[in-house]
Amino acid sequence: MLTMRAWLPDPEFPDRSDITGFYRDTLTRVDRLPGVEAVAAVNVRPCLGWGLGADWDVEGWAPPDPDDPTFLELRIISPSYFSELAIVVDRLRAGARTTILTGAGVSAASGMPTFRGPGGLWKRHRPEALATPEAFAKVPVLVWEWYDWRRQLVAACKPNRAHGVLAAWTRRYRDLRLITQNVDGLHERAGADGVIRFHGSLWEVGCWGGCAAAPTRWPDHTVPFATRPPTCSHCGGPLRPGVVWFGEGIDPAVLAQSDDATSCDLFLTIGTSSLVYPAAGLVQQARHRGAFTVEINPDATVVSDHVDLVLRGTAEAVLDAIEHRVEHR
Ligand code: OAD
Repeated sequence: MLTMRAWLPDPEFPDRSDITGFYRDTLTRVDRLPGVEAVAAVNVRPCLGWGLGADWDVEGWAPPDPDDPTFLELRIISPSYFSELAIVVDRLRAGARTTILTGAGVSAASGMPTFRGPGGLWKRHRPEALATPEAFAKVPVLVWEWYDWRRQLVAACKPNRAHGVLAAWTRRYRDLRLITQNVDGLHERAGADGVIRFHGSLWEVGCWGGCAAAPTRWPDHTVPFATRPPTCSHCGGPLRPGVVWFGEGIDPAVLAQSDDATSCDLFLTIGTSSLVYPAAGLVQQARHRGAFTVEINPDATVVSDHVDLVLRGTAEAVLDAIEHRVEHR
């Protein structure tokens, strides 16, 4: 599935009244793109419901901003997309041992910025200035301002369809494991069971000094904190966010659970750039152990050429399409 986005007026198509010409020209060009077998479905925001051909299916259509009259989205689905979806649907329905790894892209539709995409957090901030133990030792107030801002942002967000589908799967399929690199807690808020939180949680804190009276991590949902840094109720020292920073190791128990989960039949890597290790290594490990590996992402990543199947689309659209077929077959 290929999604094209454009805002009108587009310099290439200045005359909006010639919208039919716009479709025709665009579709002709899209048809010639490598990898596009045919233009199977089109939906265009300013003329919602407008389509070419009665039997064309429009998958996962969700206007990104229904109030923006200048937004135009074309969604082009090649015929093979439907048989590719069926590969995943059949395995799920057969009760395959399934492991899913998610990244920031899964929360994008909820309004959470990703790290490396356009407008991504690491485009605006340097990770070493905000997400390392050294940064915290140097400027704890600044680091907490950043984490407190992210907690406020997440608190104002809602889980999206991708979280909803994955949560349903964790409850429905006994042999399914969900590993997330996300610290936002949106999988849990959607009702997911047994989430393996690879990089910790924004909603946990720990004593920075590691005082003996306190547990390593504990839940804290205060938004916003009255003081930054917030203080440890056991020793009065500063608290730290319960996330894994660059330069820190993954919790050995989480690592062991994740390693174990790579012994599976089906491995889905969803909404992650696959650049941050050790999480990024899980998909290849699963493949080496015999799993059928699938990437769901609107953009190509470093693993796209090394998985068995790529479903090119957003997590919320592709998971919705899979779930629709799982439920209605
Ligand atoms: P990135 O920002 O590196 O990658 C996000 C991926 O999501 C990109 O490949 C996008 O193409 C894709 N994407 C964007 N919108 C999407 C959508 N609607 N549906 C599906 N995919 C979409 O984020 P991560 O790979 O999660 O580490 O980053 C990995 C780690 O780097 C994070 O856990 C964080 C960060 O530094 C820590 O916090 C330790």
